[in-house]
Amino acid sequence: MSAPGRRQIDVVFSADEIARRVEEIAADIARREGRELFVIVVLKGSFVFAADLIRALDRAGVEARVDFITLSSYGKESASSGEVRLARDVSDDVRGRSVMIVDDILDTGRTLRFARDLMIDRGAATVRTCVLLDKPSNRVVDIAADHVGFTVGNQFVVGYGLDLGHLYRGLSYIGVLRQP
Ligand code: XMP
Repeated sequence: MSAPGRRQIDVVFSADEIARRVEEIAADIARREGRELFVIVVLKGSFVFAADLIRALDRAGVEARVDFITLSSYGKESASSGEVRLARDVSDDVRGRSVMIVDDILDTGRTLRFARDLMIDRGAATVRTCVLLDKPSNRVVDIAADHVGFTVGNQFVVGYGLDLGHLYRGLSYIGVLRQP
């Protein structure tokens, strides 16, 4: 039974599809990026993806040190605005480390570029990026992620950590909200 006011959702990527893809991404990271990584999870939307990814990385033989950064952009709930702000920093030094930035979705590209440039400026040895979803049609800045789960069209997706007004993060799948 759905909660009152909860909108209907069409599945875009099922829980099984996501689980398979996460294993593939982890295997690819293990092959291409070495066995010791400093994984920086961009909060909040990527916490579910990151939780699965770091365990898949462990199975793939990667030793991951994990830290979190909170970045926020101003603007409407479902649209990315121009300005990215560092709301909560990592607690460890990245200097000399092989950093892997993990984000939920690469949309305009501003958030990932901000995070990547910050880690480069701080002297990380290498900075790679991994996103579960890529929405290339909406890109504003020139950036591509090194590891991508799925490509999506220009639609607002929810679930598996992704939210609309902090709702829907707990869905085990990724979907689009039906028009009310
Ligand atoms: P940029 O535009 O900086 O944005 O690449 C990345 C952040 O914007 C949010 N975002 C979405 N969140 N469904 C969501 O729940 C979407 O379709 C979507 N598109 C962008 C998200 O927080 C992401 O980290």
